Amino acid sequence: MPAFKNALARFMSEQRGYRVTFDPSNIVLTAGATSANEALMFCLADHGDAFLIPTPYYPGFDRDLKWRTGAEIVPVHCTSGNGFRLTRAALDDAYRRAQKLRLRVKGVLITNPSNPLGTTSPRADLEMLVDFVAAKGIHLVSDEIYSGTVFADPGFVSVLEVVAARAATDDGVVSAATKMSSFGLVSSQTQHLLASLLGDRDFTRRYIAENTRRIRERREQLAEGLAAVGIECLESNAGLFCWVNMRRLMRSRSFEGEMELWKKVVFEVGLNISPGSSCHCREPGWFRVCFANMSAKTLDVALQRLGAFAEAATAGRRVLAPARSISLPVRFSWANRLTPGSAADRKAER
Ligand SMILES: Cc1ncc(COP(=O)(O)O)c(C=O)c1O
Repeated sequence: MPAFKNALARFMSEQRGYRVTFDPSNIVLTAGATSANEALMFCLADHGDAFLIPTPYYPGFDRDLKWRTGAEIVPVHCTSGNGFRLTRAALDDAYRRAQKLRLRVKGVLITNPSNPLGTTSPRADLEMLVDFVAAKGIHLVSDEIYSGTVFADPGFVSVLEVVAARAATDDGVVSAATKMSSFGLVSSQTQHLLASLLGDRDFTRRYIAENTRRIRERREQLAEGLAAVGIECLESNAGLFCWVNMRRLMRSRSFEGEMELWKKVVFEVGLNISPGSSCHCREPGWFRVCFANMSAKTLDVALQRLGAFAEAATAGRRVLAPARSISLPVRFSWANRLTPGSAADRKAER
């Protein structure tokens, strides 16, 4: 529906500070980002071809990009040492691994802002990435589904701002993706509704401003609540989640230890968080904690429960065998902070 594509093109330009513009005729509508990503894989990769994806990445990609297309994902390993930023060395390493596996690399897919990190890609990293894909002659897919969630500096830089001078529209991809979109159409009624919603600029501005304010507040609530019990989050400026380091609560610093902790948090604490291993993170102990799908009150309850659990686990550590030593850098000096005389302490001492 042209009215919807026009409204969408204008809204997406506004979200990017009018630093880039979108031609409505190049927009392909799909029922969600899942369909869009899968359609792109069908268009850009043959069965057995590979895409490089920086880790940690959205666990759904293993399903969305691979299941029906037969494409492969080769992880680009990013680490906590530099806040999980993408480096040229990590890209080169992933490219080499793909070649060793005899996989033809067709492109790199990034998520900016990142799910699960909640961080935006700095312009310099995007420039480095664009240089990499240009040198290799491969595609670059940028999933910017969270561009409307940026709540702090540094702001959001769309990859389009970086490639504007270099890229041309590939009509073949637009045409093939339009055909693929037949398998996940957006109903006319939905398009009509969204066209009038996005066409109301006053409403969309107020909505985004209020949404951003709430996300910032909720993120602060979570980060402060976790910090109070000695658990640190990766510094973030976007997204609906925090990337949380729970290593100190694990009985062993291994992926087995991570799964053990995850099960305890799910079954004993009653919270559904995602283990970093499901995002292909190479360092055990990281978890994605979503904060935006609940009220402040519910988040408070979740934090109280997690706090009590952390206190009990820390107290219990005194009688546990020491963690298996591994070569990962432990960068945080965790204070074994206990609330004196808390119920959790007393329980642990019994
Ligand atoms: C990075 C990323 N891409 C795609 C999707 C799928 O989005 P949709 O629900 O619109 O299909 C998600 C959902 O969480 C996501 O986080």
